[in-house]
Amino acid sequence: MKIFIKNIKQLVQVEEKPKLLVKGREMSELNTIKDSWLLLESGKISSFGKMQEIDNAIIDGLSQDAKVIDASGKMVFPSWCDSHTHLVYPQSREVEYIDKIKGLSYEEIAKRGGGILNSAKKLHKASEEELVESALIRLNEIAAYGTGAVEIKSGYGLNTEDELKMLRVIRQLKKLSPLTIKSTFLGAHAVPAEYRSDQSKYVDIVINEMIPMVAAEEFADYIDVFCDRGFFTIEDTDRILMAGMKYGLRPKIHANELDYSGGIQVGVKYNALSVDHLEYTGDEEIQALLNSETMPTVLPGAAFFLGMIYAPVRKMIDAGLPVALASDFNPGSSPSGNMQFILSMGSIAYKMLPEEGINATTINGAYAMGLSEELGSIAVGKKANVFITSEIPTYEYMPYSYGNNKVETVILNGKVIE
Ligand code: NIG
Ligand code: FE
Repeated sequence: MKIFIKNIKQLVQVEEKPKLLVKGREMSELNTIKDSWLLLESGKISSFGKMQEIDNAIIDGLSQDAKVIDASGKMVFPSWCDSHTHLVYPQSREVEYIDKIKGLSYEEIAKRGGGILNSAKKLHKASEEELVESALIRLNEIAAYGTGAVEIKSGYGLNTEDELKMLRVIRQLKKLSPLTIKSTFLGAHAVPAEYRSDQSKYVDIVINEMIPMVAAEEFADYIDVFCDRGFFTIEDTDRILMAGMKYGLRPKIHANELDYSGGIQVGVKYNALSVDHLEYTGDEEIQALLNSETMPTVLPGAAFFLGMIYAPVRKMIDAGLPVALASDFNPGSSPSGNMQFILSMGSIAYKMLPEEGINATTINGAYAMGLSEELGSIAVGKKANVFITSEIPTYEYMPYSYGNNKVETVILNGKVIE
């Protein structure tokens, strides 16, 4: 099956020589081709170029069943790569949202048994079928906003049986959804109430019971810890990541959302693929990241929704770091997986240029889930996950015009998603 898209106003994020990530000053560079065409074949990006220079052989090679799309006035982007979500969850939590409006903090809500523990209680009662069904609806919703690859974490189980249940649900989603999905084991998301007086006992369960079972079933691609004030300590995180490493689980951790917790440094120590949140990032943290292969990942949705300080993204990029942006889609701190909004937040709240934002939501997001060899840009041989916009004047319009959906046609694995 071939899809030939012609008369593209601008083909965005094109790579002749694909890179795994972009950092520092490079983040403000974005290759595009105006008045172009794109050929997708057998689920992959086959070729592209300028309309004026099109080889007749390409046109002649289009068989009867090739789908031709005229994209006049429209742009084509690689699908967004959302490297941090918790989109398998049992129920929304708008009651806490009201508490937040009344002035309670995220930590205060968590201490009262709300927050993550509240979701865990409900998840325990939900069946796998129900969880798959509701997550599929969310996946379809984010696909309609242009997401083509997504990482999903466990972490609302908080006991061995329910964590495994969550990971089985994610495995089902990998089979059922056209999106490319990576799964992350997050047993250390919150300390269950019964272990509050002896947190290390829960950490022992994560290490001795959960990790070996997760690894034996090859349930997870990555391992995560919520390493922050009031959640898991540096020592807990160190122990968990060490145990994960023995089973080949590379970390992607929650770090420095609530304090200068040392989370970034412990992530770098274990060669984390990414460290995420990063509101509290100072010179020492930047220095640690500069000497690493770890993708600093910022989650504007959570900072916005919780009314927190914003991560110093400008300072990080100016220091030469790469940055990825992700949605953190979850019921407690970011109940939206709309990556177009995340891109807008990148510019509005973090002062990222549109080019930096697009790099952060495509190629760098792909890197942050180990997918940048196959996704995150328009490059020959990469997976045909792209979207066609509505008629828009410039690519800068994508972050500028926030709140509405500018994605018109979604193509995943070389097929139009209806
Ligand atoms: O990334 N920070 C920790 N975990 C999630 C929140 C999950 C929840 O509140 O349900 C986050 O923001
Ligand atoms: Fe998160």
